[in-house]
Amino acid sequence: MIKVAIIGAGGIAVGHLEAFKLVQGMQAVAIADINEERAAQMANEYGLTAYTDYRKMVVEQKPDAVIITLPHFLHKPAAIECAELGCHIYLEKPMAMDEAECDEIIAAAERHGVKLMVGHTQHYLPANRCAKEIIREGSLGKLVMINDERHSFYFTDARPQWFLEKDKSGGGIMMNLGSHSLDRIQWLTDCRFTRIKGSISFHGNRGDVEGSGIVYGETSIGVPVTLCLSGYKGSTKNELELMFTEGMLRVDVGGKVEISRGGAFEEVPIEDQTEPFLLQLNDFRKLIETGAEPYCNGEYAKSVIAAVQAIYRSHELGVEVDVKA
Ligand SMILES: NC(=O)c1ccc[n+]([C@@H]2O[C@H](COP(=O)([O-])OP(=O)(O)OC[C@H]3O[C@@H](n4cnc5c(N)ncnc54)[C@H](O)[C@@H]3O)[C@@H](O)[C@H]2O)c1
Repeated sequence: MIKVAIIGAGGIAVGHLEAFKLVQGMQAVAIADINEERAAQMANEYGLTAYTDYRKMVVEQKPDAVIITLPHFLHKPAAIECAELGCHIYLEKPMAMDEAECDEIIAAAERHGVKLMVGHTQHYLPANRCAKEIIREGSLGKLVMINDERHSFYFTDARPQWFLEKDKSGGGIMMNLGSHSLDRIQWLTDCRFTRIKGSISFHGNRGDVEGSGIVYGETSIGVPVTLCLSGYKGSTKNELELMFTEGMLRVDVGGKVEISRGGAFEEVPIEDQTEPFLLQLNDFRKLIETGAEPYCNGEYAKSVIAAVQAIYRSHELGVEVDVKA
């Protein structure tokens, strides 16, 4: 049985803990959060030991692995400490604040012989998995361009404050939600962003992070991409359109996949609705047990951070920039 400790008892930790009810061969044993009440409440609900100090938890519980669900600025220090203490690491997305931090995490994992996986959930969502299979099967012809749009009010009162402070989050909607969009495009089409022209805006009602971003990206497969994210008020949307020579594929990332081969869009039934957090946890288990690397290893997750940073650099410089691999 692989013993796992959870670091951070916030919103996303619940998804991981629910998956432990379904997974075989893994057990969550403890949870740490500086918010004592939150740690105690989650520990009580899921039958875990609660801590306020994650280092003390790892030293005392000696878990085989940790799931790190901390604010972004703490990903690097926590991951490195856990690597030093000999724990395999599942680290939430986005991997770290910048590419240099990603390199430090990757080096620490290698140095201490522990496995590292980053939580790029998009790879496990039923609609995205269905879309990837359609792309792989190839009947829509040659892929020529991609458009990704996400609208979601970013400055809601429910959002923890650290997300809105750049020194803790590394950025706003592009860092947090844009990393999902950049990731899903790279993963779905097996490409990497190579050049980016980006423009962001800062009109949030609190914090100092960007609330929108528009991006033109070039990719390693020669397919151009547009990306449009708005965190201001408006109707919610989370949609990806891929244009091929023989048709179009539309993915409503929340659920629906549709194809047009010339006429109106027709919905494609999604057969496999397996719980994404379970699939993710199973990939982490396989990585620990067999060394089978998931797509979202450290180097891959770094490529997503490199694309986010290229958007910020392009905005600052006002020119198109190379994505530093
Ligand atoms: N994969 C996804 O779809 C997805 C969705 C949501 C969040 N996330 C990611 O998960 C991570 C956490 O996000 P969240 O929404 O759960 O945030 P959150 O603010 O709800 O949770 C973070 C928790 O960390 C705790 N914390 C802060 N400093 C700590 C410390 N030093 N030691 C222990 N605990 C500490 C906070 O008290 C809080 O409870 C982020 O990287 C975020 O981007 C991923």
